[in-house]
Amino acid sequence: MKVLVTGGAGYIGSHTVVELLESGYEVVIVDNFSNSDSSVLDKISMITDKEFIFYEGDVCDKKFLEEIFTNENIDSVIHFAGYKAVGESVEKPLMYYQNNIGSTLNLLEVMEKFGVYNLVFSSSATVYGKPHTLPIKEDFPLSATNPYGYTKLMIEQILKDLSKSNDKWNIVLLRYFNPIGAHESGLIGENPKDIPNNIMPYIMRVATGEYEMVHVFGDDYDTEDGTGVRDYIHVVDLAKGHIKAIDYLNSNGGLGIFNLGTGNGYSVMELIKMTEKVNNVKVPYVVEGRRPGDIASCYADPSLANEKLGWRAEKDIEDMCRDAYRFASKKQ
Ligand code: WQD
Repeated sequence: MKVLVTGGAGYIGSHTVVELLESGYEVVIVDNFSNSDSSVLDKISMITDKEFIFYEGDVCDKKFLEEIFTNENIDSVIHFAGYKAVGESVEKPLMYYQNNIGSTLNLLEVMEKFGVYNLVFSSSATVYGKPHTLPIKEDFPLSATNPYGYTKLMIEQILKDLSKSNDKWNIVLLRYFNPIGAHESGLIGENPKDIPNNIMPYIMRVATGEYEMVHVFGDDYDTEDGTGVRDYIHVVDLAKGHIKAIDYLNSNGGLGIFNLGTGNGYSVMELIKMTEKVNNVKVPYVVEGRRPGDIASCYADPSLANEKLGWRAEKDIEDMCRDAYRFASKKQ
């Protein structure tokens, strides 16, 4: 079974490629290294000792995509490639709509042309906007508060309409909560090219002395300690969820939508303290004002994925903090 992974050199993509290879799948990676590094490919080989095929290029380039589908007999596609920085999407909406929506439309048209109808799409809990209650279920109302979130929402709508239009399509939408952590080898992990928007890579750069302190965006939320609460999920658990989604595609037609979260919420302060505890490091911080657009709390009801995908997150917050730090301190 040959799986095309777009964005396969990225954070979640590379961890998913490792799991695919170790589960016996053949893998074709496409990446343009806009938010990843070519060294990740060597690390995947070191971890798995397996072969894979790699094409450097942009999913927005239709000719490039057609060349891949001509050369390779693709059975399924996992589509990660896309920009994902909330703040940047507010500053550069056209870049986000062009890239995230345009690349997806390109991919779908080429898949249809080559008769490939199995797709797993990397969606996000961001499509729930500000939930009216918790935990969040898949049938909750959807909304967005920034162009990045709207691209996820719009792509979900495109895929729902496509699924309705032709029952040949087998599509799974995976709504990620907050992926953190790294492969136990410490060889791959989250390493944004610029200053991290997300909390965990920022905490890691403070823990390793690269940055001076964590800027905690608000401690006046309606949560236990006043700081934001999120459903952090180990990236390896998330990657394994994609293997289950591919299996699901091959035994169920139509459209599946699943939350990939642990169902547990942790605050920013709890994440900082846990990082210090499991790694015996200091993580200085300063509390500042809220970040515009942030919500107080967000965590999943993962029961549908547990039941229908036979998937459940296994790693706990200590594993996530320990594994994240091992990667961060190795890459120094
Ligand atoms: C988590 C908590 C912040 C940074 C976003 C996207 C989501 C997905 C994951 C792509 C919040 C606080 C953060 C910092 C802080 N991205 N924080 N200081 O906003 O829940 O989700 O990233 O798929 O789609 O929306 O994640 O890590 O940015 O924030 O205090 O320097 O950490 O206020 O409470 P978020 P995050």
